[in-house]
Amino acid sequence: MEFLPIFLDLQDKPCLIVGGGATAARKASSLLRSGAAITLVAPVLGEALAAQVAAGTVHHYPRHFLPSDIAGNRLIIAATDDPTINRQIAALAGAAEIPVNVVDDPDACTFLLPSIIDRSPVTIAVSSGRASPVLARMLRTRLESLIPAGYGRLAALAGRYRERVKARFTEQRDRRRFWDRVLQGAVAERIFAGQFIEAEAVIERELAPDALDAEMGEVYLVGAGPGDPDLLTFRALRLMQQADIVVYDRLVAEPILQMTRRDARRIYVGKERNHHAMRQEEINRLLADLAKEGHRVLRLKGGDPFIFGRGGEEIDTLAEEGVPFQVIPGITAASGCAAYAGIPLTHRDYAQSVTFVTGHLKDGTININWPALAQPNQTVVFYMGLIGLPIIVEQLVAHGIVSTMPIALIQQGTTHQQRVYTGTLATILELVMADPPQPPTLLIVGEVVSLRDKLNWFSPPEHAND
Ligand SMILES: C[S@@+](CC[C@H](N)C(=O)[O-])C[C@H]1O[C@@H](n2cnc3c(N)ncnc32)[C@H](O)[C@@H]1O
Repeated sequence: MEFLPIFLDLQDKPCLIVGGGATAARKASSLLRSGAAITLVAPVLGEALAAQVAAGTVHHYPRHFLPSDIAGNRLIIAATDDPTINRQIAALAGAAEIPVNVVDDPDACTFLLPSIIDRSPVTIAVSSGRASPVLARMLRTRLESLIPAGYGRLAALAGRYRERVKARFTEQRDRRRFWDRVLQGAVAERIFAGQFIEAEAVIERELAPDALDAEMGEVYLVGAGPGDPDLLTFRALRLMQQADIVVYDRLVAEPILQMTRRDARRIYVGKERNHHAMRQEEINRLLADLAKEGHRVLRLKGGDPFIFGRGGEEIDTLAEEGVPFQVIPGITAASGCAAYAGIPLTHRDYAQSVTFVTGHLKDGTININWPALAQPNQTVVFYMGLIGLPIIVEQLVAHGIVSTMPIALIQQGTTHQQRVYTGTLATILELVMADPPQPPTLLIVGEVVSLRDKLNWFSPPEHAND
């Protein structure tokens, strides 16, 4: 190691920053977060530092650096725009054995300020030594996305319970088991979901004398988005890699399924049109039973679980039976398909509202409020509308929409198999009949569809020339 990473207690300790520009401001902001008492020496201040001085958080000498500024400081940062002065500060700091950081001059530094992931009291510092601060910042960004913001609160909670846990479990092995469960299981998930009171309730239950035998699992109702794995949320991905059972249906794309934990048990519950591997009531029951056996169950659904996804019914049973659950939204097909087809769902000039509606046929008809859907200046998105397309076209025209109204049909949106058919209410049936699309497909009706000609940006590799 070129440098030893350590964590310094700088609370109220005197630190000197020489320089008043943007870099000095960034360094000052890091030091301030650790509670340092900063003295700033600079004849002129940039906006950010001037604001700090006005707020009284740093003490400012409006002049050039003097060698007498050095003494008595715990750390010094040389951040002037004159490399010679910076080197002079470094030499004086070195002689006084005070750690010094010199901006843009790694060789003159005796300490480096790392890139920081702040989940206080948990702090992660990333440094590439003298090699590449940009690389360190990139790594920090990647780590930021993997470490939920709630880790700080989780650490604080663990700190509060530390002594009680020590008293409750005298064997170290039991303590470790307890903390493994708390820090990776239901307590952590409650904290990350912002349910702090529930988190304390769970930890109290876990501390009860018979807790080790009475473990309750949890259900994660996760929206997997429309198909492109890059559209998953951070939380969805984390829970996917944590659950030990995955219950999924047809709409979940294979590459997304591949991102679940390798050793997780997978249960397919179907939901193909007219061919359900399992009835809805059976799925509801299955989720509750698996969680009660102590499993962390991932209920993975296409798009968003609360948009035509029957997510509400699934958690209804869980809520009734006291099974813990959380719901993670996903990008719904309307948002995903519209974005990847270059069709803004609303637009100041064309559509002031958007309606999501099911085009699912029941007894050969679609029972919806057609007059409302025929109102001008709106976009209507039909889910499950392929089979009922002739009825949808007929009803929209019958209720007053002009037959020249643009319509788009998007097949397998956001994936490499995406295809977009565009036409008008008068022409779309013919287009679809000539070259039938593969499900799932989504319909978008409205003037906004015409914007695709200009705004289309996504060329899926398999249909790049369509
Ligand atoms: C039962 S609904 C589920 C919707 C899902 N919960 C959502 O938020 O996207 C299924 C319908 O969603 C639409 N759909 C889902 N994913 C799609 C995709 N990648 N491309 C086109 N349509 C999609 C289709 O209309 C399909 O018939």
